Order: sequence, then structure tokens, then C-alpha cells
Amino acid sequence: MNTKLLLIKSPNCQIAFKRLLSHSTAQQLRKVTLIPGDGIGTEISASVQKIFEAAGAPIEWEAVDVTPVKGVDGKFRIPQKAIDSVNLTKIGLKGPLATPIGKGHQSLNLALRKQFNLFANVRPCKSIEGYKTPYDDVDIITIRENTEGEYSGIEHTIVPGVVQSIKLITEQASRRVTEYAFKYATSNKREKVTVVHKANIMRLSDGLFLKCARESAEQYPNIQFEEMYLDTVCLKMVQDPSQFDVLVMPNLYGDILSDLCAGLIGGLGLTPSGNIGEAGSAIFEAVHGTAPDIAGQDKANPTALLLSAVMMLRHLDMFDYARRIEQACFDTIRDGKNITGDLGGKAKCSEFTDEICNRVKDLQ
Ligand SMILES: NC(=O)c1ccc[n+]([C@@H]2O[C@H](COP(=O)([O-])OP(=O)(O)OC[C@H]3O[C@@H](n4cnc5c(N)ncnc54)[C@H](O)[C@@H]3O)[C@@H](O)[C@H]2O)c1
Repeated sequence: MNTKLLLIKSPNCQIAFKRLLSHSTAQQLRKVTLIPGDGIGTEISASVQKIFEAAGAPIEWEAVDVTPVKGVDGKFRIPQKAIDSVNLTKIGLKGPLATPIGKGHQSLNLALRKQFNLFANVRPCKSIEGYKTPYDDVDIITIRENTEGEYSGIEHTIVPGVVQSIKLITEQASRRVTEYAFKYATSNKREKVTVVHKANIMRLSDGLFLKCARESAEQYPNIQFEEMYLDTVCLKMVQDPSQFDVLVMPNLYGDILSDLCAGLIGGLGLTPSGNIGEAGSAIFEAVHGTAPDIAGQDKANPTALLLSAVMMLRHLDMFDYARRIEQACFDTIRDGKNITGDLGGKAKCSEFTDEICNRVKDLQ
């Protein structure tokens, strides 16, 4: 889809264009690869594009299809066109992808992470005013190592009935992600980084991760550093999440703990995420699935993908657009009149989207 053309033909074009010109912080148009995804992916991606257009955000979307294609060796792979697009733009926004079972290729999400070496998964979980959950003051960032650990895919049968799965931890990947956690804490004005581990049991593997975290901490004396066992973090998290700030951990712990944190603020429909790679590349994505039960019915909540796109704007230093879009989204949820079914409302995805568009146009 050529969004430049869309913008020119659109009735909102003039407003968006005027805003773009008049904005004191107007920035150059930035091309972003859009992977709309499966199921509700197309609906929520269209919603995000509409809101960005209403906000006049200087983003040109390049939509690509990542449905795997069979290579000459018989293996399924991500289409070259999609790889070329991300290699060029370095930035992607991704809707949910269905994981086909038994079709001869690995999870596309895993393939994308490997292809672009997206080493850190970052998930902010912040309480949303107006959406009541048992906790009011959650403001946590989980940073998960994304490339190894139990997800290295090294599994084999030793003898029938006995299987082995290898947890791979390297100094290079542990140092890279723990350093990133401290850099993130510094640039986002956070106070504390907690490393989550089980080095009391997995002395070598988690021990190495912990050693790297300690060494990274030494380079950031202004950020408070804390070490905690995974089980203790779970206990303390449900008792009082406000005691945590930024948490960094190996892959499997991050997979579980980041969903637990999403649950504290109301679930996966509200939680954004970013997969950060080397040299500034990143893919931002909603963490929920394709919701086949509501796909095509205009019922999906686009908030998680929208807030992922807001993270993307901040990654691109487009702070002003990020602030306005985020505020319009939070104001819509707080107001409660036009919220989707999963948030307890009756609005369609398109009505929720229109409400955010109307609000974002009025925000300075
Ligand atoms: N990141 C990803 O691409 C990703 C993540 C998880 C699951 N999946 C895939 O998605 C498919 C379906 O998985 P699932 O059913 O286990 O999980 P799911 O997240 O798709 O759905 C779980 C429940 O949450 C609801 N839901 C999810 N997102 C919503 C939204 N934005 N608005 C309103 N309701 C929403 C669904 O209607 C459903 O009732 C599978 O193929 C799975 O592999 C993809």
C-alpha cells in the first residue's frame, strides 16, 4: 500500500498536511515497514494508520507480507521482499501473526527475531487511568533477552523416553542485554534496574548472566542496582508492583514475567512491546495474538499496537507526536464512552479509532 498516495487522496489530507507544516518540531518523513499480520492484525493496523494520519505523524508505511515462501531447498522462509524492506528502513511495526502448526516452518515471530538479531524485548506496563485493575500504580519495564536461553532450539532425544533441552547462555548476549537495560534506564530517567535470575540453582548459566549484569551496573553508578531470584520477584510483584522499576532477565523468565506484568495493568490487549536490534534497528509489536474468535468483526482493541507504535515514535525521537497520540488514547479510555468490549465497553474498533482521531487533532 502506498500511504503517500493514500494521504494525498484522503479527506483528512489537508488538515494532516497543515499540521505537519505548522508543527514547530516537524520532522522529515520516515519510512517504516508495516507487517499488518493475520486475523485482527489488518483491522488494528488500519486503525493505527488512521490515527497517525490524524496526528500528522511523518511516517510513510511500507506494507509487506511475511507469509512464508518455499525455497528451492524445500524450506519455508520469510519472503525476501519483507527482509529487504526491514533491512532498508531498519524499523518495523508488526501486527500479530498466526503460528501455523505442523506446516514445516518455525514460528515467524522467532524467525523475525533471528533474522534481524533483535536481542532485547522491551515491554512497558503502566497502569491506565480509568481502566480499573487490582493495582493502580504499576509502572514497570521488563527487558527480556530475546535470542538464546531455553529458546535456542537445541533439543534431542538421548534414548527413547529421555529428552534433553539445552539452555544456552553466552557472555556476549548477556552483556549486550544487561548493558541495554542500564542505557534504557538512563535515557528514560528510570531509577533502578533489577536483574532477575536463578543463579542459586543454575550456577553456571544464570551465574554468567548475573556476572554480566553486575559488570554492566558498575558502569552506571547513578542507576540503583538490585539482584533478585525469579520466585522472589513473582511473590513481591503480586504483593506490591510499585517497588519495581526496570527488570532485566534471560529469555524464558522474561517470557513469563512480562505476561504477568501485562496482567497487572489489564492484559495483553493494552500492552505494547519493542524488539530492539543492533545499530538502531527495531520491530515494535502488539504482544497479543490474532484473536481468531473476533477477527473481521470490527471488535478488536487496537491499543496494544497503537502504544507499540508510540514506542516506535519515541525510538525515532518523535516525542511530540508520541505524547499527543498516547494522550488521546488514554483520554479516550479514561472517558469510557467509546471503549471496546474487552475493556468493558460497547464500541467497535472503528468507533474507538475515530474517537482517538478526533481527540488527537485537538491536542497541542
Ligand atoms: N505476537 C504474535 O504474533 C502472537 C502472540 C500470541 C499468539 N499468536 C498467535 O495468535 C493465534 C491465536 O492465539 P490465542 O487465541 O492463543 O491468543 P489471542 O491473544 O489471539 O487471543 C486470546 C483472547 O484475547 C482476545 N484478544 C486478543 N487480542 C485482542 C485485542 N486486541 N482486542 C480484543 N480482544 C483481544 C481474543 O479475542 C481471545 O479471546 C495463534 O495462532 C497464536 O500462535 C501470535
